Amino acid sequence: MLAHTYMNPAIVDIADVSGDSFALSKAATKYDNEKVIMCGVRFMAETVKILSPEKRVYMPVGSATCAMAEQFSPEKVKEFKEQNPDVCVCAYINTTAALKAQCDVCVTSSTAVKIVKALEAKDILFIPDCNLGTFVKEQVPEKNIILWKGGCPVHGSITVDDVLTAKSAHPHAKIAIHPECPPEVCKMADYIGATSGILDYCKQSDDDVIIATEKGVCDWLNLHYPQKDFYQLAPEKFICRDMKLTTLESIYKTLLGEAGEEIILDEELRIAAKRPIDAMLAYGG
Ligand code: 13P
Ligand code: SF4
Repeated sequence: MLAHTYMNPAIVDIADVSGDSFALSKAATKYDNEKVIMCGVRFMAETVKILSPEKRVYMPVGSATCAMAEQFSPEKVKEFKEQNPDVCVCAYINTTAALKAQCDVCVTSSTAVKIVKALEAKDILFIPDCNLGTFVKEQVPEKNIILWKGGCPVHGSITVDDVLTAKSAHPHAKIAIHPECPPEVCKMADYIGATSGILDYCKQSDDDVIIATEKGVCDWLNLHYPQKDFYQLAPEKFICRDMKLTTLESIYKTLLGEAGEEIILDEELRIAAKRPIDAMLAYGG
């Protein structure tokens, strides 16, 4: 059982492996269990199936998807590639299998900077998250990074005012921000990083921390580190509804075979979508 940290902490704590998108991608190839339950959103379950086709992969709630995964059609990317054959197409892992099949390399938020730096190509189309893309662009100025306007509606809704409100309520606290947030928000961070980076920063920090990412991360930290205070930035906004569709009950029913959806992928599509994920694991693993 794999669970993204955005799940309810009760789910994170019963999973065999929990973590961010990159940790879950790596876990997909590491274990030889015949069946896998992915507690997360569809692209995460698809990634497991793409990397381990011999496994039977289930989602407790098949309708849990990522709002950014389908923002660009595979046809649009295919057309771009035909017109710009020298540009490397780099896709955030938060994309459908069909879109991955048109891309050269995938990244997650914790590996994006490292992988883009290591790419041979100078010209890179980075999709779909232009906020993460802007962060990568700043960290890797030697590359020419082309961005399209897409992104996470949850992280993308955070404003400078939200940060100012949290800072005035907790002036002593540091602030850790996910790079899916808008650039003007990221500029206010003491630490910018993916889910795994934020968890590490908070575990090591002597200070209390304001958390600017999905609420599951702050909930988990407060449960496991009661000696420190972690404050959720904009708690009413920082909830990914899709990540919250999975419940202990839906997991239990999936285990009993009474609920859930098995991921089935066309073999040709699976092989095409595996190429950029393999490239990601080779660069960033
Ligand atoms: P990471 O898991 O890479 O931090 O990405 C966050 C996210 O929004 C996952 O959907
Ligand atoms: Fe997608 Fe954003 Fe939800 Fe992550 S938090 S699954 S990027 S909509």
